[in-house]
Amino acid sequence: MVDCYIKRTMRLIKTIKQMRQWAERRRRGKTIGFVPTMGALHEGHRSLMRAARRRCDAVVVSIFVNPAQFGPNEDYARYPRDLKGDAALCRREKVDVLFMPTAETVYPEGHDTKILVGRIGEVLEGAVRPGHFSGVATVVAKLFQIVRPQIAFFGQKDYQQTVVIKRLVRDLNFPVKIVVCPTVREKDGLAMSSRNRYLSSEERNASRVLFKALQKGRERIQEGERDSAAVRDAMTLLIQEQPPARIEYAAIVHPDTLMEVTQIEGPVVLLLAVWIGKTRLIDNLLVKP
Ligand code: PAF
Repeated sequence: MVDCYIKRTMRLIKTIKQMRQWAERRRRGKTIGFVPTMGALHEGHRSLMRAARRRCDAVVVSIFVNPAQFGPNEDYARYPRDLKGDAALCRREKVDVLFMPTAETVYPEGHDTKILVGRIGEVLEGAVRPGHFSGVATVVAKLFQIVRPQIAFFGQKDYQQTVVIKRLVRDLNFPVKIVVCPTVREKDGLAMSSRNRYLSSEERNASRVLFKALQKGRERIQEGERDSAAVRDAMTLLIQEQPPARIEYAAIVHPDTLMEVTQIEGPVVLLLAVWIGKTRLIDNLLVKP
């Protein structure tokens, strides 16, 4: 079905063998830019594709809703899927290859290898979603092996994921440069996310509070506040005033180690995970005092 939405300028590849063959041929003297996604594409993904287009000779986008990074009670089954819309968007962005493997292709019967992520994958998101980053690291490593990009593009919106992937690349010596692109936001500040589609209009209004709280945190730091507990309180107070928001965590951490900071003396990242009704949203802001 999807194939008919794809003009001949973009190749749709579904098997690992074909993807590897394409990469093998294409790599000779050319730069492959890679944008791994789980689909339900939006402006955030589009900005990654554009960044890849600017820097690379060929752009590969993958769409794969990776079961290994969802916990048993998470939204794997209902994660938004829009293959027609996604293919059309990739075609408009002049993507060269859309790689859409099936779960059976990526994890065939007997697949039993996982990448274990250390402390940076066990805090924050990793603490509330055990195994999540092992699932992310495993699939990203597999995709790097298959697509063989020189450069891969990720959004800052998933800040911890970018730290985990940079560490993966460093520790396992992948010859891939990781480029982190700025979070793309709606006009009112809400970070673009595939999960925003779950929000009712009332929840959508309430969800603005995440960015407002991050801005409040930044403002306090820029005014000279150095006690991270005070900055965190200012952020959480704002969120608590906004039902139906429920904070899962609000953290102020070192940008590379993700260690909690008590006294703000250098750059920090403010990170939030907040439930808006039944939808879990994350966002972050890098602040240099
Ligand atoms: O950010 C995502 O969409 C996913 O975590 C990724 C990197 C595609 C791995 O499944």
